[in-house]
Amino acid sequence: MARKKIALVGSGMIGGTLAHLAAKKELGDIVLFDIMEGIPQGKALDLSQCGPIEGFDAKIAGTNDYADIAGADVVIVTAGVPRKPGMSRDDLLGINLSVMKAVGEGIKNNCPDAFVICITNPLDAMVWALREFSGLPHNKVVGMAGVLDSARFATFLAWEFGVSVKDVNAFVLGGHGDTMVPVTSYTTISGIPVNDLAKIKGIAPERIDEIVTRTRGGGGEIVGLLKTGSAYYAPATSAIAMAEAYLGDQKRILPCAAYVEGKYGLDGLYVGVPAVIGAGGIEDIVEIELSDEEASNLKVSTDAVEELLVACKGLDSSLA
Ligand code: APR
Repeated sequence: MARKKIALVGSGMIGGTLAHLAAKKELGDIVLFDIMEGIPQGKALDLSQCGPIEGFDAKIAGTNDYADIAGADVVIVTAGVPRKPGMSRDDLLGINLSVMKAVGEGIKNNCPDAFVICITNPLDAMVWALREFSGLPHNKVVGMAGVLDSARFATFLAWEFGVSVKDVNAFVLGGHGDTMVPVTSYTTISGIPVNDLAKIKGIAPERIDEIVTRTRGGGGEIVGLLKTGSAYYAPATSAIAMAEAYLGDQKRILPCAAYVEGKYGLDGLYVGVPAVIGAGGIEDIVEIELSDEEASNLKVSTDAVEELLVACKGLDSSLA
């Protein structure tokens, strides 16, 4: 069987980390693309030289030519600019929208059968725009946010409860912004609802609320510390899990920014929901029951995403 081809559009901090992880896991041969000449080529060469040490045979190439992503099975998009301290993800809208246009056309012309995972922020609006510009089917274009947001939630919960991260199954819905909705009622530790275990362990409900708030601001906390860019290790690790679910037809239920039409009261919007990822791309969306409070929080979050789409349409008339 021919080796799979993974195209990474954007070869910055997340792009380079993605390439390293994909090579170590032998997901396939890797093409790093960027508009900056020398960056993808240099990173590809550096990463190739990890091969003999780590024992991978994945071929890693760098390019500034979209023709080289032709036939990719998976495309992971990080092209654009990350935020700096004091910026929200939404502040990136204008510049990253024009980047999505170029990337969408590159994908449409070279690998229209790929499964495309978008990471560029503001995520829910950029994945929508990338789908519009590329013209790919909705089930083949998805945004990476929920896996990362739930990993952040799980990390903080594991620390608080003093348990292994392996036992925490955290659940986050909604847009990838300050309005995201960490859902404690579906969050469990070894199958025990987190609020029940908090009672058993004498952890005050306020502590769980603080963890929810920290999760919502999890990306901003890292931006504030790094000062020169945003998080990259965990975002890359999250997208690789999604790529593996697709390539391995794993049918994993992962929280993703998926296109929702008819469920959660939505009429065609990319937003974070539990989605089944398999060989068909996004094969299904699981509609869970929400409490009134969770449903109204989700509404706030989806309204914020819709506002961004209006802004996108105002910036690029081809989207209107
Ligand atoms: N086409 C291809 N690559 C581009 C384009 C473009 N039109 N415009 C910018 N790039 C490249 C930059 O040259 C840079 O190498 O995208 C890369 C982005 O890398 P970083 O600046 O290191 O950003 P990174 O941390 O990887 O984050 C990328 O993901 O999490 C989001 O908010 C984050 O939107 C940002 C994206």
